[in-house]
Amino acid sequence: MKYIYIKTWGCQMNEYDSSMIARYLEKTGQYLITQKTEQADILVLNTCSIREKAQEKLFHQLGRWKTLKSKNPTIIIAVGGCVATQEGKEIIKRAKHVDIIFGTQSLHKLPKMISEVEKNKKFMIDISFPQLDKFNYSLPIKTKGYTALVSIMEGCNKYCSFCVVPYTRGKEISRPSDDILFEVASLAEKGIREINLLGQNVNAYQGVTFNGKTCFFSELLRLISEIDGIDRIRFTTSNPLEFTDDIIEVYKDTPKLVSFLHLPVQSGSNKILQLMKRSYTIEKYEKIIEKLLKARPNIQISSDFIVGFPGESKEDFKQTINFIKKINFDMSYSFIYSSRPGTPASEMKDEINLKEKKERLYILQDCINKQTMSWSRRMLGSTQSVLVEGISKNNSMQIYGKTENNRIVNFYGPLEIIGQFAQVQINEVHTHNLQGILL
Ligand code: SAH
Ligand code: F3S
Repeated sequence: MKYIYIKTWGCQMNEYDSSMIARYLEKTGQYLITQKTEQADILVLNTCSIREKAQEKLFHQLGRWKTLKSKNPTIIIAVGGCVATQEGKEIIKRAKHVDIIFGTQSLHKLPKMISEVEKNKKFMIDISFPQLDKFNYSLPIKTKGYTALVSIMEGCNKYCSFCVVPYTRGKEISRPSDDILFEVASLAEKGIREINLLGQNVNAYQGVTFNGKTCFFSELLRLISEIDGIDRIRFTTSNPLEFTDDIIEVYKDTPKLVSFLHLPVQSGSNKILQLMKRSYTIEKYEKIIEKLLKARPNIQISSDFIVGFPGESKEDFKQTINFIKKINFDMSYSFIYSSRPGTPASEMKDEINLKEKKERLYILQDCINKQTMSWSRRMLGSTQSVLVEGISKNNSMQIYGKTENNRIVNFYGPLEIIGQFAQVQINEVHTHNLQGILL
């Protein structure tokens, strides 16, 4: 048996890919996963290039692993993920001790690549985009707890001017609907109660059905909601561009679909949205939210924001803040714009200094944090459906679970209800969690 250590950077899709890598390797019967680098025969790095200095971070990490390899030259180092796809062979120019480079679409080929390197002691690379392959080879992932990620589509055709994803993940490709339904049903049998459907643009989903027809996202949601045992459905990430009325309709009649939606708007200024090539306006986004509120009056919305995009004036930023207040977003992931090599926005003139960008980020996050807190306060006295996950991290006498809107609730209750849904009344609101009473 050989030991494999996998390090993962980045989004949920990368986390998902890493668990898939682990499954492919374990399935050969020759490898075991270890959490200790010192024990590893094979080191795998699954990289991310969405923001920050991805290349520097990569070579820094490879430098550390070089020390391990100099002590034990038989160690095999494999680099995968978005930076590997973008940089390819360039990586070994600076890090000759790397043995394998594999792309986001070649995960299933890794066991074979490793055994070739073991045999021939020769560098291997595969960063090709044979997109259908990946879903053809997918295996059910190992799950922890009572929630599971299920990949339904991958890639993106939108080419927002700031984003590397279309270049690192390739075109949108949907997994056949029956494969998804089969996986969800088998997860339900294993005790999973909540499903999080994963993809770069889940609402662009168009999977083929068993009889050659096309299943759209709204239909997929309805089909999954009919699976016994699954009582909560989420998805990440959706895009305002294809958030069509048929998806909004699902909120009317599918209570298993959570009253919480992450719908990234990125900016509150139409000028900036146009420069970002987001292909929608603030008015269009507002219209979607209006319809959603009609379908599901208690729905809460979260978003991603980019501050300091090239050309963002003080006035544009003010419009973003006003928009945040108007929509009353519950939460956000917000970032300072980071120029990504090869994207159209990297050619735009970036005249805002870092201090100003940091200030804007601070103001934005402060505004959202206040809203998050006021949304939490509104929950005081209400009864929430909580998926009970385990013994509380703060108080071992209590158990905890998550609400539909992603709040952690601690409360006294029997251990037997771990893994089930419980009705809990909220009686205290703290910054990072809530306290409740089991009903
Ligand atoms: N498909 C999603 C976005 C996925 S990328 C959508 O349509 O919104 C995840 C988030 O990373 C984006 O929403 C954006 O806020 C952020 N991001 C992407 N590229 C970035 C960049 N170059 N600089 C800063 N943030 C970026
Ligand atoms: Fe990126 Fe825009 Fe697609 S943010 S993932 S190119 S929708």
